[in-house]
Amino acid sequence: MTDDRLRMTPGPTEVPTAVRERMSEPTPNPDVEPEFFAFYRDLTDELGAIYGDDDVVILGGEGILGLEAAIASLVEPGDRVLCIANGLYGEGFADFVEMYGGEAVVCATSWREPLDLERIESELETDSFDVATMVHCETPTGVLNDIEPVLERLEAHDVVTVVDAVSSLGGVPVPTDRIDVCLGASQKCFSAPPGLTVCSVSDRAWERIESVETESLYTDLEPWRDAADGEWFPYTHLSSNLYGLEAAIDLLLDEGLESVYARHEEAATRCRARAAELGLALYPAESVASPTVTALEVPGRAQHLQETLADEHDIVLATGLGDLAEDVLRIGHMGHNARIDRVERTMDALEAALG
Ligand SMILES: Cc1ncc(COP(=O)(O)O)c(C=O)c1O
Repeated sequence: MTDDRLRMTPGPTEVPTAVRERMSEPTPNPDVEPEFFAFYRDLTDELGAIYGDDDVVILGGEGILGLEAAIASLVEPGDRVLCIANGLYGEGFADFVEMYGGEAVVCATSWREPLDLERIESELETDSFDVATMVHCETPTGVLNDIEPVLERLEAHDVVTVVDAVSSLGGVPVPTDRIDVCLGASQKCFSAPPGLTVCSVSDRAWERIESVETESLYTDLEPWRDAADGEWFPYTHLSSNLYGLEAAIDLLLDEGLESVYARHEEAATRCRARAAELGLALYPAESVASPTVTALEVPGRAQHLQETLADEHDIVLATGLGDLAEDVLRIGHMGHNARIDRVERTMDALEAALG
């Protein structure tokens, strides 16, 4: 089947042919055949090129599973969790914390602006926290947070850190060596289909996970610690999805991470320049605009523009979420779609639709 539709959404992204072909290969029984455990170990080792030295775990379930699993595994009743936020997912972490009995203190700032370091410092000086959460790229608003200074402060206060890097990992450098649990998903910058959460877990995080007494089932990271070494998975793994992820990571590493990151920067810069030529303002402050997704202000026209681009130009875009559904249009230039020619085709179509 040919499909000329261009899907410039901020995930799921286009899945390259090599990934789709790998997924159609026969798969071993993931619970029984030793080769599959070796394959899984090799894949998690390969992910180390992006993640660094910490253990990598891959869960069957899309990105949100990772967010819940991190909180379910690290937080028990009474734990204090600092939820650092300037967007939907950052604020949403607090819901998971409360759900698992923790006490969430939300340090929230404007969805358009950088994280507020001063307020974070003041929270850390006046209170004590077991865990802190934050989001690297807020996909709904196209914000990339400078998390390194925040992580530095948290390190000084010995707080275990959870970072949602779902829409930045594999497209933007992520300071994973400073993060205890770093969450990614297959369908964003990796350009594999939805279905897998990837996460790194530091030794310190494992210790905490092992000490947490509250039980959870599918969201518990603990059984995954040495699963593949023991030739046992807690649940039947998603073999075809894992094959696809392996092919996607191979593509990324063959290209070279530096080149991949530069490609994202170039695509974003071009997208923002074309938007400025069209008189469209960015939703976030320019200093925090993400290399993986551009959120544009189109008051009252987002849905109409989305439909026009799909119907007349065969290009799929996303709108804002919730209250921003009518006023924000989002263009994903992440993963395989972070290419100048795709950005140009999209912006030509947007120009025609606006015209
Ligand atoms: C920043 C961020 N975190 C988490 C998620 C949840 O991922 P999923 O849609 O794969 O459940 C998304 C999805 O868009 C996201 O953008």
